[in-house]
Amino acid sequence: MMKIRAAITGVNGFVPDEVLSNDDLAKIVDTSDEWITTRTGVKERRVLRQGASSDLASSAVQGLLKKTNTNPLDIELLIVATVTPDYLFPSTANIVCDKVGMINAWSFDLNAACSGFLYALSTAIQFIETGRYKKIIVVGADKMTSIVDYTDRTTCVLFGDAGGAILLEPNEEGLGVQDFILRCDGSGRELLVQPGGGSMNPASVETVENRMHYIRQEGKQVFKFAVTNMAEVSAEIMEKNKLKGEDIAWLVPHQANLRIIDATADRMGITKDKVMINIHKYGNTTAATLPLCLWDYEKQLKKGDNIILSAFGGGFTWGAVYLKWAYNS
Ligand code: ACO
Repeated sequence: MMKIRAAITGVNGFVPDEVLSNDDLAKIVDTSDEWITTRTGVKERRVLRQGASSDLASSAVQGLLKKTNTNPLDIELLIVATVTPDYLFPSTANIVCDKVGMINAWSFDLNAACSGFLYALSTAIQFIETGRYKKIIVVGADKMTSIVDYTDRTTCVLFGDAGGAILLEPNEEGLGVQDFILRCDGSGRELLVQPGGGSMNPASVETVENRMHYIRQEGKQVFKFAVTNMAEVSAEIMEKNKLKGEDIAWLVPHQANLRIIDATADRMGITKDKVMINIHKYGNTTAATLPLCLWDYEKQLKKGDNIILSAFGGGFTWGAVYLKWAYNS
């Protein structure tokens, strides 16, 4: 009998209707469409005015359940990857289970910044591979605009709001997740951080006055780490699985910066037509970028396609997942 693998059997995304363009941002901070486009690749991003990350996640999950004709009562586990939880506790995942009616599931949040979806996916597959679980949902959802400082032009142009969700089920045809490599390096914690609100700097008048509840990023230094590590880990998972550039149908890279994506694809020997890109439409939606890409490109994916997902984020955290796509749309 073939090993039980965990396969993605459905994907759905949710983005709010409101669009914030580069020209809109140029009215708020000293920037331009030209600078943002050439330095990052972002043209516009979405903004959720009312609601929280659980609403982004719940919308993505509701659509996923409908699309895959799945009963919410059959979901056994929900993992929500996010850096913008509704509250520090209870978890956003608990709230999503309630909003969607997945009352038989247990659930938890996972925080690995922009690598959150890969960490959550790699965690979830363990429960399927043991044969114990049959239906798990993994979500990446972030209301980044809730922690973006709209007086800081170096970060506010980068991020947007979105949620993406996948359904994982057992597969005994050799399809689904084949391998993963995950890494972290906490010595980079000060370079990309939301300094206030945790136990290190609990909320106070001082933390608010010093704008410590917003994202802070040393962009240039993070860029160097991101470009090196995302490319290296992607090449490593290919070598480990004896894959060459031509064997890969799609690279699904975290959408933080078009220049980082290009460098990763070059290192992997993958041509641009095989790289999923939607950063121009949504910006960096942190944990949501990878499922949003899968959702955008779903119709082009074919059963058996070799796909590499790759990400780098705050922490630092980074990693890559190799999977064989399990269905034709
Ligand atoms: N508009 C106009 N000018 C700007 C803007 C802006 N929005 N932002 C910065 N500048 C200026 C700077 O002030 C600087 O001016 P100076 O030379 O006079 O000092 C100049 O542009 C260059 O600034 P840099 O920060 O060096 O620009 P860089 O080319 O590095 O691009 C960016 C900045 C886009 C943030 C890039 O560094 C980057 O993508 N970093 C990595 C982001 C990332 O991958 N993060 C990890 C994932 S996110 C997560 O985990 C939550």
